[in-house]
Amino acid sequence: MRDKITPYAADSAEKAADLLRAGGLVAIPTETVYGLAADATNDLAVAKIFEAKQRPSFNPLIIHVSDLAMARGFADVLPLAAKLAEAFWPGPLTLVLPRKLGTKLSHLVSAGLETVAIRCPAAEPAQAILGKFGRPFAAPSANQSGSISPTLATHVAVSLGDAVEMILDNGPCPVGVESTILKVTENGAALLRPGGLPVEEILSVSGPLVEAQAGSMPQAPGMLARHYAPTATLQLNVRKPQVGAAYLGFGSYTQRGPLFRNLSPAADLREAAANLFRYIHELDVLADRINVAPIPKEGLGLAINDRLRRAAAPRE
Ligand code: TXA
Ligand code: MG
Repeated sequence: MRDKITPYAADSAEKAADLLRAGGLVAIPTETVYGLAADATNDLAVAKIFEAKQRPSFNPLIIHVSDLAMARGFADVLPLAAKLAEAFWPGPLTLVLPRKLGTKLSHLVSAGLETVAIRCPAAEPAQAILGKFGRPFAAPSANQSGSISPTLATHVAVSLGDAVEMILDNGPCPVGVESTILKVTENGAALLRPGGLPVEEILSVSGPLVEAQAGSMPQAPGMLARHYAPTATLQLNVRKPQVGAAYLGFGSYTQRGPLFRNLSPAADLREAAANLFRYIHELDVLADRINVAPIPKEGLGLAINDRLRRAAAPRE
């Protein structure tokens, strides 16, 4: 499975674009998490994503574009959306917009909705591939549906190694949590998922956020209570670890040992987000219980707490 891992280089971007053109699946590093990419205009290729991830077909995908001009080819970019894109693209912000009529975009991408989620990734490999490919690729996180997102190429190899043609390795993803998702309508912008772009930064451009209208959030695993589920059970806001449990610390916690990780000794939320999924992946194979320290609920802490809450939700 690990033989699919290819170090990222200029010629591997070309190869990845060729594989996408041929309808194949390629795992691509972005600044947030690794994505499982397919040609967003090819129904068969997009269908392979759902099959590989065992993702319910009613859960729509994000398409990735090289810039705002490419986005305009596939969505009606409302003035507020253009303002947000100009401020934050390329970067970890996804905009849910009305689908443009009469485009070649696969309908599977939107799972039957009249909207499409679009993001312009900042990571160099993703941009290089988009430049060579010339079309958007659809890419959810490159993990089995309902499990923790991958921030290393080896995470992808373990969960999807058989399904992909190539895993481009560009080391750990610097942001480490998935993009922030905003739905933009004539009424304003609504937060659908906190993520790698802190809400506080968005507000200065978006103005006050509006409530998401009923029905704008698909009944999708990413939005369900129990998602990002490790095998171990998680206990949140634990200041002192229980005996036998692994501990995911934050800030000035100094205990060392195989079952301890500190998301950020300096209490830096950016560092904590970048380490979050890798540490959960690591501790999940070592322990049945993972105790997690309290994480401040501001900045990137909003996304971190959201993912932890979902990972800790009781099994159905
Ligand atoms: O950072 C990211 O966003 C990563 C990287 C690979 O770009 N992608 C990612 O994709 O997190 P995924 O599929 O794991 O999460 C996308 C979320 C899902 O919860 C899906 O339901 C939601 O976006 N979504 C997609 N299209 C939507 C739409 N038209 N309306 C509302 N939600 C949508
Ligand atoms: Mg996901």
